[in-house]
Amino acid sequence: MTFNRDRVALDALDARLTQIASRLLPGATGAAEGNSVTLQALFADDSERTERLSLSMGELHLDYSKSLIDSEGLAALTKLAEASGMQGAVNALFRGAKINQSEGRAALHTSLRSPESANAPHSALVSETLASLREFVDRVHSGAWTGYSGQTIDTVVNLGIGGSDLGPAMVVDALADFALNRPRVRFVSNVDPAHLARTLKGLDPATTLFIVASKTFGTLETLANARAARDWLVAASDEAAVARHFVAVSANIQAASDFGIEASNIFPLWDWVGGRFSLWSAIGLPIALGVGFAAFEELLGGAYAMDRHFETAPLGENLPVVSALLAFWYRQYGASPSTAVVPYSQDLSLFPAYLQQLYMESLGKSMSREGAALPFKTSEIIWGSAGTNGQHSYFQQLHQGTEFTPVEFIACATASVDGGDERHRQLLANCLSQSMALMNGDETSADVGADNWEPQKTIAGNRPSTTLLLKQLTPHNLGALIALYEHKVFALSVLWNINAFDQWGVELGKRLSKEVYAALSESAGSLINQENIEAAASVESASTLDASTRALVQKISSWNTPR
Ligand code: F6P
Repeated sequence: MTFNRDRVALDALDARLTQIASRLLPGATGAAEGNSVTLQALFADDSERTERLSLSMGELHLDYSKSLIDSEGLAALTKLAEASGMQGAVNALFRGAKINQSEGRAALHTSLRSPESANAPHSALVSETLASLREFVDRVHSGAWTGYSGQTIDTVVNLGIGGSDLGPAMVVDALADFALNRPRVRFVSNVDPAHLARTLKGLDPATTLFIVASKTFGTLETLANARAARDWLVAASDEAAVARHFVAVSANIQAASDFGIEASNIFPLWDWVGGRFSLWSAIGLPIALGVGFAAFEELLGGAYAMDRHFETAPLGENLPVVSALLAFWYRQYGASPSTAVVPYSQDLSLFPAYLQQLYMESLGKSMSREGAALPFKTSEIIWGSAGTNGQHSYFQQLHQGTEFTPVEFIACATASVDGGDERHRQLLANCLSQSMALMNGDETSADVGADNWEPQKTIAGNRPSTTLLLKQLTPHNLGALIALYEHKVFALSVLWNINAFDQWGVELGKRLSKEVYAALSESAGSLINQENIEAAASVESASTLDASTRALVQKISSWNTPR
């Protein structure tokens, strides 16, 4: 399925935006030295700029007035969204059109958070699965679910990676203030044995429940960790204990069952839900176990509110669309390859890492929806960390680096813990002052060439940022925030005419890892178990490895060879 793109209008708008960029964006094609219009000039020319360039939705408020854009540029960008077929694409998303055309699938993560009354596609199936999740969560919380020794569960360990880890882990961390006393929730994703070992240290097999979260139930890291966790459990009990201590979330029911998980303990996932968009599904089970089902439903409700906004708000007043247009503007016309996302909230410290998969697994593509090589740059390299920590790490570059990096500040107006108001005010003061400093620079730099001028202290300013305020970090507002970024990524995929929902680029690495694994195992003379032996046998001999990889395998082997 293609979106209705008006090629003639797009070409004309591209020419218009290129011309506007030359006077606004440092690094733009034909940019005048120092650019002729600065952020400070844009504010000086328009006393209502901030009011005009702010948008609210519920308890989320976006101030994008410190963006390097003027009214003409915004009007052209909004027209660009229209000419890209944006509204038609949004409608196609919600109605379940097969917009993931390379896999012939719909992308219906929005159905996961639609109330049954909204009658979204698959609503009955979603409601039925939510009901089974609630029933399971209630049994664990009430103590009705017991382990092999008859004790209740005090720790849940989620075994998953990518979209089966990053979203749930970020939400559980962000909602720490809503966490129940029991069970504690932990996440293991890396196949590095240290990850599972450190997590299991001090846990009691009798009171630990594992969730094997894997849409394909074929991700090697997750399966390896699941086997190791099962061995840990069985060593303390017996094979019969697996049924009491393992549940699964997967679209591959058979593989989960073959692993030894009871059919009644397997919660379904579907191919119309992308992994990085799946925390609203049964993949969100650790969230519901950690913060309670009611809070999980509030999270869904917040995302649903943002869905309604995305589907109905006019493009120029549409938070995800406007955010996407600004990102497109910098990437397409400002030659800025990356964006820093800096939540001034320790609770949101995992949010940038979550966004990395959401953005770069969705937008890191070079082929159009129709399979043609794209003639322009796409995607955004997303990075960042919690503020104020970033100020003591990479903000130097943001202020005095040779090129600008757009910064997206996120902050919560009210503290998430009691008794911290004074420090929370300090947190907010730092957030707002950083965006001020990026815009205004340092007045003393105006004395360029004066006797007291010290060039290395020049902070030129004119560096763009946006600030997204949440009234407070509640499950509802967090759901809306996450959905905002999901829809921003989708809107960017429409602007770039790419498929946001496949990820063919990650398949090659998975295949090659089996080959290198075989080489490492051969050289170590230890093919560990039947499955590994089969995996090793399934690839050609290690001699097909390139010289560098072969040498690295040998080096590792030489260092690991017992004396
Ligand atoms: O990174 C590739 C990927 O397929 C992601 O899209 C996905 O979220 C992750 O691996 C885990 O996949 P699964 O849930 O099937 O184990």
